[in-house]
Amino acid sequence: MRSRVRSYLRLLRKMPSNSQDALALQALAASNSQDAVALQALSALPGGYLPWTGPAMHPAAVATIVNSVVLNHHRAIVECGSGVSTVVLARAVRQEGGHIYTIEEDAEWGAHVSAWLDRDGTADAVTIIHAPFEGRAGDGWYRRAALVDIPAEIDLLVVDGPAALAPGRALVRYPALPYFNEKLTPGATVVLDDISRPGEQQILARWRSEFGREFEVRPLSDIAISRGGAPYDV
Ligand SMILES: C[S@@+](CC[C@H](N)C(=O)[O-])C[C@H]1O[C@@H](n2cnc3c(N)ncnc32)[C@H](O)[C@@H]1O
Repeated sequence: MRSRVRSYLRLLRKMPSNSQDALALQALAASNSQDAVALQALSALPGGYLPWTGPAMHPAAVATIVNSVVLNHHRAIVECGSGVSTVVLARAVRQEGGHIYTIEEDAEWGAHVSAWLDRDGTADAVTIIHAPFEGRAGDGWYRRAALVDIPAEIDLLVVDGPAALAPGRALVRYPALPYFNEKLTPGATVVLDDISRPGEQQILARWRSEFGREFEVRPLSDIAISRGGAPYDV
């Protein structure tokens, strides 16, 4: 969330100084109000307190994903990078049905997520796959051998990992679509988080040209979303 705000501010710095503050405040107010509405909507999915820290997806992004689960009946869900998003999605899956396969490189972080799922009573809805980062920073990804049990038909792919902030890791999320593309159902939705970052923008450009998928960028939620053949807008 903080990186998105920084990116707005970078953009705004290029504008005449007297309009900067007003526009920065407008951008922040717009994104904050989307998140406030999203948090209110998500509170209908009960559970315990969640630490909505910097690396977590925006509430508005998570609400968009939950909307797609509810409206487009996504049942087989794969997430790269677990956390608050996993726990909220599990609450939606408890209501709607389905299963989440969340891929996590950091076993200690995975244990936190597992404890929150246990507390919520949603652990049955989620398989946490511990897949350490493998390869060099520039072209590495999750250990593929850990992913073989993910089923062949995926309705929703959420890409918010591996962690991409370390030097050389800017394009580290690119392999997600090449790896899972063959497994996506015709109506599948694909979401890429952190789209305000240059690395994610490069990844999106490559995914668009290499896979012919259309993506819509939603700056206030910091995501790009491809709705495949899913019937309902989210
Ligand atoms: C962008 S985060 C994934 C966030 C997750 N999708 C969510 O919305 O909460 C990518 C990786 O960073 C690590 N991570 C997540 N939250 C973290 C935190 N609060 N502090 C440090 N690392 C974190 C985990 O290894 C995670 O897979």
